[in-house]
Amino acid sequence: MVVTKYILPALAAASTAFAVSDACDGSSDPITIQNQGDASALSSCSTVKGDIVIAEHTTGGISLDGVEQITGSLSANGAANLTSLSAPELTSIGDTFKLEGLIILTDLSFGSLTSVGSIDWAALPNLQALSFTKGVSKAGSVSITNTGLTSLNGITLDSVGNFDITANTAMDTINVNDLKNVTGLLNIAANAPSLKVTLPNLGGAQNITIRNASSLSIPSLKELSGQLGLFGNTFKEFSAANLTSTGDLVFDNNGKLSNLSMPQLTTVNGGFTISKNDDLEDITGFQKLQTITGALDFTGEFNKVDLPALKQVKGGFNMQSTGNFSCSDFQDIKSTVRGSFTCKSSTPDPTTSDGSSGTSSGTSSSSSSSSTAKSAASLVDINVPAVALIAAFGAMLQALL
Ligand SMILES: *[C@@H]1O[C@H](CO)[C@@H](O)[C@H](O)[C@H]1NC(C)=O
Ligand SMILES: *[C@@H]1O[C@H](CO)[C@@H](O)[C@H](O)[C@H]1NC(C)=O
Ligand SMILES: *[C@@H]1O[C@H](CO)[C@@H](O)[C@H](O)[C@H]1NC(C)=O
Ligand SMILES: *[C@@H]1O[C@H](CO)[C@@H](O)[C@H](O)[C@H]1NC(C)=O
Ligand SMILES: *[C@@H]1O[C@H](CO)[C@@H](O)[C@H](O)[C@H]1NC(C)=O
Ligand SMILES: *[C@@H]1O[C@H](CO)[C@@H](O)[C@H](O)[C@H]1NC(C)=O
Ligand SMILES: *[C@@H]1O[C@H](CO)[C@@H](O)[C@H](O)[C@H]1NC(C)=O
Repeated sequence: MVVTKYILPALAAASTAFAVSDACDGSSDPITIQNQGDASALSSCSTVKGDIVIAEHTTGGISLDGVEQITGSLSANGAANLTSLSAPELTSIGDTFKLEGLIILTDLSFGSLTSVGSIDWAALPNLQALSFTKGVSKAGSVSITNTGLTSLNGITLDSVGNFDITANTAMDTINVNDLKNVTGLLNIAANAPSLKVTLPNLGGAQNITIRNASSLSIPSLKELSGQLGLFGNTFKEFSAANLTSTGDLVFDNNGKLSNLSMPQLTTVNGGFTISKNDDLEDITGFQKLQTITGALDFTGEFNKVDLPALKQVKGGFNMQSTGNFSCSDFQDIKSTVRGSFTCKSSTPDPTTSDGSSGTSSGTSSSSSSSSTAKSAASLVDINVPAVALIAAFGAMLQALL
């Protein structure tokens, strides 16, 4: 472990010429702040070279007045008695802005901050809002997990690498108006059940995975190089009006989804899976879809499938429903399928190509018992990440004590 340097304000005042440059330099050993006196000793450092660490035993509030730029990271890990952290003049953090296990932190005020190497925040249960007046418009990646935040107000990115927003159980709004491109994984899961995700200007992304949202609006999305996966969401309607191509396309366990449309989609560069969307009666929203380079695997309770432009399915083909759709519509496509071809309408127990049940109610004859099994399974799904987080956090507290 790095030997950290403790700033002695008295010493800094005594030999100013030496102290100023040294006090502002955390490039070999991080500058450690244990109290407001340490923070105030940095007030003449418009630029801090290297890293600043807020020590675990710091109590109360810390304000980094006067600092405009930190070339390295700013981190606070396990400072369980830190109530507020602010840096009114700070415009940029070159490396990671890492906050973890600050369990009573309620106030994070960075009114001038616009640029951060990356944001990595976890276990900030009492942080409900950000006071980021200007807004962070540039960040290499963002990970915000298990915080008390209700929205991402203050995060005004226009482009980002990985964007990971998970287990923020009070977060009911994600609206990043300026976001145009996500060059890595956009992952949203296990936030408030009422979460509404609005990314009005997102045009491109690599991989998008959205779980447990009550609405999703991505009207400008044009292409995805990787997967678009929607799992366990509660919205009734989803449309990606401008999407022309994706990698894998997955709609799984969106129990209320009844209207699904991607009117411009022509190509799925991967597999296309629809399963356990029990309210989806018609699959008619893919009128321009021509090519699926992987497998098609549709299971459910649908009565109609209309894919008039489909010319080629290069992987396997599996379509099974309790409903009475027409398998004869797919006789022509059969010759393009390289894997196995299965089409079953009015089948009591639709089965996905990997052999699992394609409806959440299982066989119609035992729907009551299997719906009990379904809710038990959902409970497990909800609790696993939460328990893991609590366990990790508990272990961290143990380590501190
Ligand atoms: C927080 O404060 C309590 C009470 O003063 C103390 O017992 C505990 O060790 C402090 N925690 C840390 C991480 O400093
Ligand atoms: C998003 O960024 C990637 C990588 O920089 C780039 O290839 C892609 O064209 C961009 N997409 C949009 C819609 O800007
Ligand atoms: C959808 O694409 C069309 C044509 O490229 C464009 O004019 C329109 O603004 C796009 N809509 C949105 C919501 O981005
Ligand atoms: C997309 O991200 C998920 C994790 O959420 C991962 O399992 C999957 O392999 C990724 N797919 C692609 C094509 O990047
Ligand atoms: C969240 O989504 C997952 C699917 O990824 C699902 O299994 C789980 O039941 C959902 N949780 C809730 C509370 O809906
Ligand atoms: C389904 O959604 C599409 C696109 O949002 C809309 O145009 C259409 O009217 C909807 N259909 C029904 C039956 O609600
Ligand atoms: C399915 O629909 C076809 C044509 O509409 C009809 O002839 C057939 O009897 C139906 N089958 C079942 C099991 O309802």
